Amino acid sequence: MCGIVGYVGPQQAAPILLDGLKMLEYRGYDSAGVVVLDNGGLSVTKKEGKLEVLEDRLAGAMPRGQVGIGHTRWATHGRPSDLNAHPHTDCHEDIAVVHNGIIENFQPLREWLQDQGHEFRSETDTEVLSHLIEQFYQGDLLAAVQEAVHRLEGSYAFAVVARQEPRRVVAVRKDSPLVVGLGKGENFLASDIPALLSHTRETMIMEDGEIAVLTDDGVQVYSTGGQPVEKQVFHVEWDLASAEKAGYPHFMLKEIHEQPRALRDTLARRVRGDGAVFLGEVKLTPEQIKAINKVAIVACGTAFHAGLVGKQVLERLVRLPVEADIASEFRYRDPLLDETTLVVVISQSGETADTLAALRLAKNRGARVVAVTNVVGSSVSREADDVVYTLAGPEIAVASTKAYVTQVEAMYLLAAMLGQARGAISPAEAAEITAALKRLPDQVQEVLSHAPVVERWAESLVDKEDTFFIGRGLDWAVAQEGSLKLKEISYIHAEAYAAGELKHGTLALITEGVPVIALATQPDLYDKMLSNIKEVKARDAYVTAVTLTGNTEIAKAVDEVIYLPATNPLVAPVLAVVPLQLLAYYAAVKRGCDVDKPRNLAKSVTVE
Ligand code: AGP
Repeated sequence: MCGIVGYVGPQQAAPILLDGLKMLEYRGYDSAGVVVLDNGGLSVTKKEGKLEVLEDRLAGAMPRGQVGIGHTRWATHGRPSDLNAHPHTDCHEDIAVVHNGIIENFQPLREWLQDQGHEFRSETDTEVLSHLIEQFYQGDLLAAVQEAVHRLEGSYAFAVVARQEPRRVVAVRKDSPLVVGLGKGENFLASDIPALLSHTRETMIMEDGEIAVLTDDGVQVYSTGGQPVEKQVFHVEWDLASAEKAGYPHFMLKEIHEQPRALRDTLARRVRGDGAVFLGEVKLTPEQIKAINKVAIVACGTAFHAGLVGKQVLERLVRLPVEADIASEFRYRDPLLDETTLVVVISQSGETADTLAALRLAKNRGARVVAVTNVVGSSVSREADDVVYTLAGPEIAVASTKAYVTQVEAMYLLAAMLGQARGAISPAEAAEITAALKRLPDQVQEVLSHAPVVERWAESLVDKEDTFFIGRGLDWAVAQEGSLKLKEISYIHAEAYAAGELKHGTLALITEGVPVIALATQPDLYDKMLSNIKEVKARDAYVTAVTLTGNTEIAKAVDEVIYLPATNPLVAPVLAVVPLQLLAYYAAVKRGCDVDKPRNLAKSVTVE
């Protein structure tokens, strides 16, 4: 979802900017551009399409200059085109801006600027920034940016350069991520840490309302009011290799195979010798835990599906009412929240706009907010009261896989911890769950070893238009994730249904050969699932069941069976999702889809 990079230093800026933009490709984009301060002027190059198109355009004519900013754009206001691509300049091409997010009041600003004589070239909201800064520019770019920011509404991050100040990049953050990288005699700017790692591990994470001025010698950060801000330097521990493909053809496959490691890391040091869960990051006192009356889980997409598992697990282990909401619904439905509500927000990136807005709403209403997130220093992690980090490592593929299983694992840990503290489960019950969690990494590894079987299964889906995922209870939650995975990367239409609901309408769509993926891992619902499978088989659907080892009778009722290692049914979702991830992956590869960057989608959805 748009990416910003910037550079000031002794090296040629253009190659550094292009390399940085490559590291931000995972965010999704449809055009790209760079501006370099070049021989007393601004050299702007921007092209619709992938970065290669921009590189081809620059080949042989790389602009020379040591200061610049760059951008990958994901279209919101105005279609993808060369003209709408960033950077955008002012009337005299003295000032250039790259921008993430949305300027909500761009229309009145544009009209006002046009009245002042400014001429616009693009359809974007971003272009008001370059003209607005031009309007206030009187020889000091920082002062002009500060003036401009006071007039902006919306959520954004942007970077600016000016011809008259050739050794300065000014950058602003409000609701969209921006990180400064600190070098020796050079400094960097990026929307995300991977774009900085080949240059430096010393970073400053910008907060909302901050303005940074990058020069060769240093970086000074100011508040919107113009006061200098003392920033902490954040040392990044993980390296670039962990953000690269390590020999796999796609990031998604690599990340699917990293799940055993991700699960192990997320569990490490959180289970005591007696099997009790210890979440040191959650600072709730026993009294505060006992005072909770309701839990509300809020997230988007795959993270929401992890929340659906979390809802059922929390209800069983904590015996409290639990709601699970999609963040974009939650924030507008005037939810009933107060200081006795525990709100759990789940977000891999920690930057999803709707999830962040839901978090802020919950805090405004006095609720305690626990965040489950994968990104240290993300907005969600900084604004929540407590954070349970998933230790999945950087997830680059748009399709979330290792983040999902670790989010689900974090929900078990949170549920077991709260259940213990409220006396809703005994120490023995908690130990039984943590023992099952400890077995999961090896069991996921075992499921992964059956990838060739799933690859053959995917063959049968390649030319299908519609598929159905059915399940009950926890299996229905997993069915929803399986369905999302398949549709987002293979573009095969997929629907998830609570199996008992089929006969209330959807059964009309089940005809000969329609693929149905039936999840049947829950013993108390097993017989009911068998009946539902018979309903779809009676309409000649092609049924593949995913079930636990030992459930042999299901084989007679379906066309194919994928067996999972026997486990405590409560944690079965972590195993059951793995063949569904692989199925989506192989179906997408066989259909020639862009697996890691599916059409129309972005990794980090930082606009509403
Ligand atoms: C699913 O594969 C997607 N990547 C998407 O649904 C994602 O889970 C959603 O956008 C939420 O992202 P977050 O976890 O970073 O908040």
